[in-house]
Amino acid sequence: MAQFIRNAWYVAAWSKDVGRHLLSRRILDEPVLMYRKNDGTPVALLDRCAHKLVPLSMGRLIDDVVQCGYHGMEYDCSGQCVRVPGQAKIPKTAKVRSFPLVERYNAIWIWTGDPALADPDRIMVIEHYGAPGWKVLDGGYQYHETGYINIADNLMDPAHTTFVHGRTIGMAAAGEVPVEVEESDIHVCAHRWNNDIEPIPSDRKITQFSGRVDRRQSYNYFPPAISRVDAVTIPAGQPHTDEVIARGIRTAGYKFLTPESGNRTHFFWLQLRNFDVPDYKMDDYIRAQDSTFQEDNVVLSAIQREQDATGVVQQTWIAIDEAPTKMRRMMQRMLDAERAQAQP
Ligand code: FES
Ligand SMILES: [Fe+2]
Repeated sequence: MAQFIRNAWYVAAWSKDVGRHLLSRRILDEPVLMYRKNDGTPVALLDRCAHKLVPLSMGRLIDDVVQCGYHGMEYDCSGQCVRVPGQAKIPKTAKVRSFPLVERYNAIWIWTGDPALADPDRIMVIEHYGAPGWKVLDGGYQYHETGYINIADNLMDPAHTTFVHGRTIGMAAAGEVPVEVEESDIHVCAHRWNNDIEPIPSDRKITQFSGRVDRRQSYNYFPPAISRVDAVTIPAGQPHTDEVIARGIRTAGYKFLTPESGNRTHFFWLQLRNFDVPDYKMDDYIRAQDSTFQEDNVVLSAIQREQDATGVVQQTWIAIDEAPTKMRRMMQRMLDAERAQAQP
């Protein structure tokens, strides 16, 4: 069974997808059942009846209680069994695990690690969220048939855009421009400027640049599960100061990777932007990025199949692997630290 960093918040669902119905989703290799109480509070329980292990999601919701669809045992939102049909006594073992949840940024965040450590302040701050001048587009979801570390790897690797995303976000010249890699305690960043280039197709939709542009991309990964890709486009030749950058066309694309298992991933995305074009259906246009992410999914699913068949993750390393390698090492350090902490 795959090892996961459990003491972290992962997006379990978009808020809109959890309601007065039983939603089942496998998260970090555990079956999770989600629903909302009558007062709207979201709940997550292990989706496995304590009796015969039937998924509770096959049962039904009665007020705030879940009734198993096999023999009718009922569980409250803490996972405690509160009724066993045909007997008064409730066995001590009749309970299921409940998971800490936080609803923030229109998403439901789950903690599958030590509940004592589930501090909501550990949820990453999404800069500019709700700030004037910034629009948020959220609700993106895809199911990827590859492990989340392969996706993280891809999101730290701008070199692939030229080859995989030529039609959408790729820049022909970009494949040759090296990235600079930086690392902090909590993230790895690969960034580069592409100077004096033609605007990429998506930027041309946003605004009419009169000429060539400078464009910076920075690929940030915050292990275990969050990627933020920042992009800014400014007219070519201007100084790359904070002031000029703040006036540029800017986007921040977030991906929240939630492992379903070691080799399957729930891929949630949202995007912030500092522009809008009233006469253009910009939201629809940005939602079409789904097809860009699918282009990655096709490649990464194929990689996963070969990894599964061979037991090998990668056979050779080249210069562009610097950032993904740093990211993988950071993940490993986190995993080791968590394991060490768990030792009695
Ligand atoms: S399996 Fe759930 S009550 Fe028997
Ligand atoms: Fe990509």
